[in-house]
Amino acid sequence: MNLRIPGPTPLPPQVIAAVGQQMINHRGPEFEALLRETSEWLRVFYETDNDVYILTSSGTGGMEAAIVNTLSPGDKVLAVTIGVFGNRFAEIAEAYGANVTRLSSPLGQAADPAMVAEKLAAEGPFKAVLLTQNETSSGVTNDVEALAKVIHAASDPSPLILVDGISGMGAIRLATDAWGLDVVVSGSQKAWMAPPGLSMICFSQRAWNAYASAKMPRFYFDMGDARKYGEKYQTPATPNVAALYGLHEGLRMMMAEGRENVLARHQHIGEYCRQGMLNLGLTLFADPAHYSNTVTAANLPEGFKASKVLDELRTKYDIIGGASKAPGVEVIRIGHMGWVNDQEIDEVCAALGKILGR
Ligand SMILES: Cc1ncc(COP(=O)(O)O)c(C=O)c1O
Repeated sequence: MNLRIPGPTPLPPQVIAAVGQQMINHRGPEFEALLRETSEWLRVFYETDNDVYILTSSGTGGMEAAIVNTLSPGDKVLAVTIGVFGNRFAEIAEAYGANVTRLSSPLGQAADPAMVAEKLAAEGPFKAVLLTQNETSSGVTNDVEALAKVIHAASDPSPLILVDGISGMGAIRLATDAWGLDVVVSGSQKAWMAPPGLSMICFSQRAWNAYASAKMPRFYFDMGDARKYGEKYQTPATPNVAALYGLHEGLRMMMAEGRENVLARHQHIGEYCRQGMLNLGLTLFADPAHYSNTVTAANLPEGFKASKVLDELRTKYDIIGGASKAPGVEVIRIGHMGWVNDQEIDEVCAALGKILGR
């Protein structure tokens, strides 16, 4: 099977073997060593000196943790949303009573730093700004560095910057400390080449300061508990040990390859997939200035339905792609993060070419 949805992503054989290992005591020395090494390696890819915590939940749980540990009901929050997952971040903040203002871009576009600056000046000060690094629903990567710059310049104190890095981290650079990002969330089932079930999250000192006065209700996702247990490389509740074996092995492979090589490999495979689609005469859904290197969204020609094309890819070619809810256009999405090579993208393009008669 050629699994080309944008997560869960395929597991390398070494990760599959790691995931199948016997359970261990999550309060014992083996677990401590496992968590210590995994968090140290995560810090390399997060480009942070702060601790990275591992929560047993999918990425959405990490987004919820970002919100409830830094904010209080009534806090003004600017949700910069460019698609489905930006909207989800806003909805979580609303569910916990934040006073959320949305700044939405049309699907396929990235957030414009000038418009964010304008909004912050006109309606600020905000307690926090919510950003998506890579909008999986449209295949668009935001310029988080440029966005962070205008957010830092907006007020004193500047808003906290909470980032959903779920479908970008480990594949597309995100310099947490250098760009002054306060909370960054990722998910094990994406570029990390691990099974679903873990969310990784880092907190800056500013985020911890906000935690001290944050009043949103929380229990399972209380980061104070995560920090307390984290000091002895444990987690407050029973963790997803199997997924952690997988994450540890995926990161071991990524560390052996080297961070810069991993990022460059994703740049290559992103370009390769886009070129393959363009060679078929397809157009791409995303703004060319902000193409994602982890997922490509391609427009289908007149007369083709995405659901039919995806069915045919699956039943005739054993290729599993993703659908999209783009209004007015038929779009398919091809994931290329983590364990993927040129040949698998070639297979997708060849099969698509046959289906579309190209
Ligand atoms: C950008 C982004 N944010 C959030 C999520 C939600 O993550 P999960 O499904 O792991 O809860 C996803 C999942 O695809 C995503 O791609």
